[in-house]
Amino acid sequence: MAPLSGTLSGFRRYEQIECLSGETMRTLAVLSRKGGTGKTTVALHMAVQAEMSGRRTLVADLDPQRSTSEWSRERSHFAQTPLVTEARVGTLFTQRLAAARDGYDLMVIDTRPSTDLECAEAVRWADLCLIVVRPCYFDLKAITRTVELVGNMNKRGMFLINQAPSRRNGEEPRIISDTFEALLDMGLPVAPVGLRYRAAYQNSVREGRVAQEIDPTSLASLEVTALWDHVSGAIWPDSVQRTAGDGPLAMVS
Ligand SMILES: Nc1ncnc2c1ncn2[C@@H]1O[C@H](COP(=O)(O)OP(=O)(O)OP(=O)(O)O)[C@@H](O)[C@H]1O
Ligand SMILES: [Mg+2]
Repeated sequence: MAPLSGTLSGFRRYEQIECLSGETMRTLAVLSRKGGTGKTTVALHMAVQAEMSGRRTLVADLDPQRSTSEWSRERSHFAQTPLVTEARVGTLFTQRLAAARDGYDLMVIDTRPSTDLECAEAVRWADLCLIVVRPCYFDLKAITRTVELVGNMNKRGMFLINQAPSRRNGEEPRIISDTFEALLDMGLPVAPVGLRYRAAYQNSVREGRVAQEIDPTSLASLEVTALWDHVSGAIWPDSVQRTAGDGPLAMVS
């Protein structure tokens, strides 16, 4: 598999919102034109991991399906963070300003499967766009428009391979390296840690939790933590130690 060296170095400087505290709030948009790739699952796992690592986090639910808000209602029986707020194109700007003023460190935006106005609005305010893609032909075909949207708006993007199949007889399925190569050819970096297809993601979200809360020693937890290390390193390049990203795509078993 091709090494990732250098793929993150081309990131541009990006807009920052100054909080009253003098800190800057950052925004992570999770998107893909294709439905069901795992945007909501990834947004929630990243948001909870951000909170666990001390970043005060707000999730903006920009998808009219409101899956994130449903998760939050389930979660409200036992936890109040991360806060989830329903958002629309016309409200996102003010919600972002209010969150920055309230001292949030991070806004994670969950988007609908499209590249339409709502998605463009998320990209507009994003410091980093995490583009979720399953390792399959149709997802790769559909991703081009999302890549164009991010490029046209001069934003930083990163692919995440989600729902990757397990190794067979110890061998990584060929589709993963093929997907990795195809994504690199599109000119954006690929997160060096992908997420496997695991029941832990489905079961945890159903009860208003995330996989790393159910079992911090699980493989799902390991890969989410490694992914967050990398994503947070891209969002806050100066303050986070990167544990992955200097080598080829690393998939947890
Ligand atoms: N890594 C994974 N392993 C197993 N199941 C997953 C994984 N990621 C997502 N799923 C499952 O895939 C389905 C779709 O996930 P999710 O709702 O997060 O996708 P989405 O991109 O937000 O969908 P939509 O486009 O409808 O908003 C859900 O049943 C979810 O539990
Ligand atoms: Mg969703």
